[in-house]
Amino acid sequence: MDNVKKKLKKMLSSQTYAHSLSTCETVLDLAGRFGVSEKKVELAALLHDCAKSMSYDELVYNIEKYKIPVDKLELRTVSLLHAPVGSKLASVLFGIADHQILSAIRYHTTAVPAMSAIAKIVYVADFIELARGHKGVVDARKAAEKNIDKAMLFILKRKIPYLVKKEVLIHPRSVKALNWFLKKEKRND
Ligand SMILES: [Fe+2]
Ligand SMILES: [Fe+2]
Repeated sequence: MDNVKKKLKKMLSSQTYAHSLSTCETVLDLAGRFGVSEKKVELAALLHDCAKSMSYDELVYNIEKYKIPVDKLELRTVSLLHAPVGSKLASVLFGIADHQILSAIRYHTTAVPAMSAIAKIVYVADFIELARGHKGVVDARKAAEKNIDKAMLFILKRKIPYLVKKEVLIHPRSVKALNWFLKKEKRND
């Protein structure tokens, strides 16, 4: 893990590196609570933003170099692009072959229906890690104490209207994820 951290540190701004370490601490806490492999979730959290400090041109360069599949909306939304590129770099630069880890990194920005426990934990931890101070973080932390699906729903229900307000394009995958978690909650009622 120390080698991964050393390499990662060189790729990231100090702020994003600190956020990655903090996300890592939060996932370890959640992994214990929800009985998930600590090693896998730790690697996914550590590497989830490994492409975050790249410029748009660097991201596009990597997409072309590695033929990373992205859709048109992702291609025009810089804040989404570090997820597919990060997933690929986790594989190429860090030797990660585990599908659940790569998928957790791939979908940590938009979410996706039927996520693995690892992907949900990374998505939630990205939002609630201790350095985060945005609106709703306290309630999201409370939701995550009990039920990871409820925490997912809570965050998606906040993030989507927030993006609407900012007039940022919403990825249809996020809407699908929201619907998926809503349906799941209704089934469990
Ligand atoms: Fe990210
Ligand atoms: Fe992040």
